[in-house]
Amino acid sequence: MLTGAGKIAGVVGWPVGHSLSPSLHGYWLEELQVDGALIPLAVPREDFARVIAALQRAGFAGVNVTVPHKEAAFALAHSCDAAAEAAGAANLLVFRPDGRIEARNTDMIGLRESLRETMGSLNGKTVLLLGAGGAARGALLALGELGAAKVQILNRHADKARALARALQPMVKSELLAAGLDDWARLAPGAELIVNSTSAGMKGHAPLRLDLGLARKTATVLDIVYNPLQTELLKQAKARGLNAIDGLGMLMHQAAPSFEAFFGVKPAVTPGLRAHLEKALYA
Ligand code: ATR
Repeated sequence: MLTGAGKIAGVVGWPVGHSLSPSLHGYWLEELQVDGALIPLAVPREDFARVIAALQRAGFAGVNVTVPHKEAAFALAHSCDAAAEAAGAANLLVFRPDGRIEARNTDMIGLRESLRETMGSLNGKTVLLLGAGGAARGALLALGELGAAKVQILNRHADKARALARALQPMVKSELLAAGLDDWARLAPGAELIVNSTSAGMKGHAPLRLDLGLARKTATVLDIVYNPLQTELLKQAKARGLNAIDGLGMLMHQAAPSFEAFFGVKPAVTPGLRAHLEKALYA
């Protein structure tokens, strides 16, 4: 059992070396003079449940969970928030003093707050959401909470987009529509916001080949990918004079509720934190 005043939390993934969580939480721990630590833990899929139980016994406050454990984290928790329920996945496990494990999905909060900061409300707006995987589920909740009137889900496999629209429509006030990525030319001109929730464009993955020349001149493009920070999609958006939002805002805002849950202090998302993370990303 861990003793002493300092609180310990972890980030669990496989691999975990690429995670920016230790750097992010480390910045806040130092800035806020909190006695604590967030430790990266490389845990293979088959050991996940055993390691979580051991960390709980050892007195950890909780863990952030990254690929490939987000579904397993959701499955082993005793309770969850609405975002984890909708996503069927959790990126935060909070260990309660009574032994219960609470699953949360703060990716939704991350996207919502990043958009709120940059665009304010989405009241009456039409959004094109690229992708229909796990990340798209949280994105739909965020877009709904910000008041989007209509969200058109575009996915390489259109059937998956249709299934997602059907599954989440009861939870989201926005009208959800679905189509294939090949419908881009028809739908792009109608969108005020375009959100990429696919893994395309991530380091080592091919970028999306979409012609942003078809988008409105006033459209905003947000990419949830943050490695690289300037994805091909965002570079194209900037070159065409569109408003471009990178994935770092979402990353910082999704981490804030975790920090508060682990260490009991609400941190702030600041330009200083962004500069710190940009340095870590380019190191
Ligand atoms: P995550 O949890 O990160 O969302 P996922 O559930 O595996 O990951 O979903 C990945 C998403 O990215 C899917 O929407 C996938 O499209 P398909 O469902 O058609 O496979 C999308 N995706 C990944 N690579 C892509 C690419 N090169 N072009 C277009 N879409 C891509």
